[in-house]
Amino acid sequence: MRTQVGIIGAGPAGLLLAQLLHRQGVDSVVLERQDEAYVRSRIRAGVLEPATVEALCEAGAGERLLREGLVHHGIELRFGGRGHRIPVSRLAGGRAITVYGQQEVVADLIDLRRSVGAPLEFGAEVTAVAGTDSASPVITYRTATGEHELRCDFIAGCDGFHGVSRAAVRPGSLRTYQRDYPYAWLGVLAAVPPSAEELVYARHERGFALHSMRSPQMSRFYLQVEPGTKATDWPDERIWKELRTRLATDDGRRLDEGEIVDRSVTGMRSFVCGEMRHGRLLLAGDAAHIVPPTGAKGLNLAVADARVLARALTAHYRAGDPGPLDSYTATCLEHIWRAQDFSSWMTTLLHRQEGAAGEFDDRAQLSRLEYLCRSRAAATALAENYVGTGLLCPA
Ligand code: APR
Ligand code: PHB
Repeated sequence: MRTQVGIIGAGPAGLLLAQLLHRQGVDSVVLERQDEAYVRSRIRAGVLEPATVEALCEAGAGERLLREGLVHHGIELRFGGRGHRIPVSRLAGGRAITVYGQQEVVADLIDLRRSVGAPLEFGAEVTAVAGTDSASPVITYRTATGEHELRCDFIAGCDGFHGVSRAAVRPGSLRTYQRDYPYAWLGVLAAVPPSAEELVYARHERGFALHSMRSPQMSRFYLQVEPGTKATDWPDERIWKELRTRLATDDGRRLDEGEIVDRSVTGMRSFVCGEMRHGRLLLAGDAAHIVPPTGAKGLNLAVADARVLARALTAHYRAGDPGPLDSYTATCLEHIWRAQDFSSWMTTLLHRQEGAAGEFDDRAQLSRLEYLCRSRAAATALAENYVGTGLLCPA
């Protein structure tokens, strides 16, 4: 089998890239190791920046998103028993975020791919990529019917943090940057209407808590937990008790409880790959970088990479212009490092650290939170980064 662009992974990065290429007349094949039901039901992120909404609309995947997505103009920072609203849109040139689950984005993109009849294979596990320094690299993959080869002009490694593409890069030719955090997140999906109109980011002595949502009927919560925690250590009653404690306010705001339909633990890490192009192998999304989830940037970064890569490959095929592919890494690293810095800042703003250094950080953290609620300049910096700085004008 042969195609122009072989895409490994049917997450947001791979699926969006495939659709943007399709609209420009560039052929691709998407290979995904999991089955379709698994990919459609995997619960991940849920906050979309305006540029992400724009990219999905440009791809033709905006219809349900514009209908069902929840548009939010602010967020709440909760600490010391009080809630403080940051009017994000007012501070960031009118831009708003849209709350819409990543699994819905993925479902819309799968449906779109199907509707145009373009190749997308589930249960296809890539086992090797070879010849990335040649003009005709090859992907080897395994399905229920045996082993296959896909020859292509380019390989897009959109296979997430634990995929095969980054691992295929010659050792020594990959500069990486990493920071680990001494905490993890327990994520919970509950069948109950949200108890707040906007997202609540809570800093509490017992650790961070986030009240988010997926729809008017479904709430999403996160709790800071110890790394290595198992989701099974957290029965329903323990989860609700901890959420009630960490989200409590002096004016006694209610937290409605409902059936917990999903719970999972995610580690937290910052990671950047210094070079996203290796000959004819191009990395995008989580394959190239990871952010801690506090800033809600992972999905938005994956979409931004896919957009830049689609434009670069289109310039190569339609105009014979190698420039955008040559500058692919540099173009992406600009938005990646902005998001990295913001995500790590939001993480340290809100999480609780144990130990002596923790006591100092604790006091500084409270002062920083109070400053954010008092200073328009400080709140504006948060707001601009939260909605994405892609459209900022130079000062
Ligand atoms: N062969 C085929 N597919 C693979 C392989 C392989 N060897 N290894 C991994 N994959 C698939 C995974 O099963 C997954 O569906 O690649 C896909 C990668 O998708 P994501 O992990 O969703 O990554 P990406 O598209 O970059 O989106 C990043 O996902 O993890 C969240 O917070 C993150 O929101 C961000 C988004
Ligand atoms: C989510 O709803 O999954 C979510 C929201 C905000 C974040 C992170 C995750 O900062």
